[in-house]
Amino acid sequence: RMDTVEVFNGVRLPGFMHTPESLRTACSFQFQDTDVLLVTFPKSGTTWVQQVLSLIFCEGHLWPILHLPNWSRAPWMEQVSFSHLLSQLEPTRPRLLTTHLHATALAPALMRSKARVVYVARNPKDVLVSFYHFHRVANFLPDPSSFEEFLDEFLKGTGFFGSWFDHVKGWLGLQRDLNMLLITYEELYQEPRSTIRKLSAFLQQPLGPAEEELVLEHCSFSFMSQSSVVNYSLVSKQIMDQSRGKFLRKGVVGDWREHFTPEQNEKFNAVYQTKMKDSGLHFPWT
Ligand code: PPS
Repeated sequence: RMDTVEVFNGVRLPGFMHTPESLRTACSFQFQDTDVLLVTFPKSGTTWVQQVLSLIFCEGHLWPILHLPNWSRAPWMEQVSFSHLLSQLEPTRPRLLTTHLHATALAPALMRSKARVVYVARNPKDVLVSFYHFHRVANFLPDPSSFEEFLDEFLKGTGFFGSWFDHVKGWLGLQRDLNMLLITYEELYQEPRSTIRKLSAFLQQPLGPAEEELVLEHCSFSFMSQSSVVNYSLVSKQIMDQSRGKFLRKGVVGDWREHFTPEQNEKFNAVYQTKMKDSGLHFPWT
């Protein structure tokens, strides 16, 4: 069944991909210092950065980029379909892993290692818009009744995957305890080359000029939209019906302006200010 719900630490997750066992497996994972964990709230640029990270590590050999789906190059730790794959990854090589879990769930296991964490944040207004459209495409998420209701649920943090605010504050509150790099969707969009350099430096995987061009070329929205291993066209229509909208939908900064009314924008800003006021976090969208 596609529409079951798994509640984990008070957060609703699609039961189709999450089980108590798969969540336990993730939370008791033995991280190695060489591991690289990509952490995102959904719709923040996960697939994009999975592509960038696997390109940085491929050392010019494009075979996996062209032939392996993003989810097998950087599997989601908490999802049931990847529990087996997780146990098979060679721990001696850098393992690329992905998670949408909140810090409270995963940080205890992570703190036992020096694994690298790449946190990707995106303007929550754009996250909300992208997530709204995705709810119509993904059959494991309920159809949103209206944009207004979806927005209210997002602000309350009661939607699927929980509160964006808790996710960002929880993870970024651990910047001193974890080996973490924060990047934003916006900087990758506006300054792809310098953001890729920042990532490769953090990962200690230097890129030569030709390799850097390969990374840039293969992580563009136009390339990724056409690539079946990253545009989710390999997923069946029963799970994701892309005739209702593409997974790689627009790929721009600021699409929220096409969706929010002035009143909705004011409501959003008021909640944002209250929830982020003491966080000490400053983002390009504020
Ligand atoms: S998921 O379901 O959580 O894994 O989704 P996620 O990959 O995090 O987010 C999907 C949004 O990222 C956009 N995207 C890109 N933008 C720019 N350039 C590239 N290469 C790129 N790849 C993915 C994608 O289009 C979704 O955003 P929206 O705003 O809906 O277009």
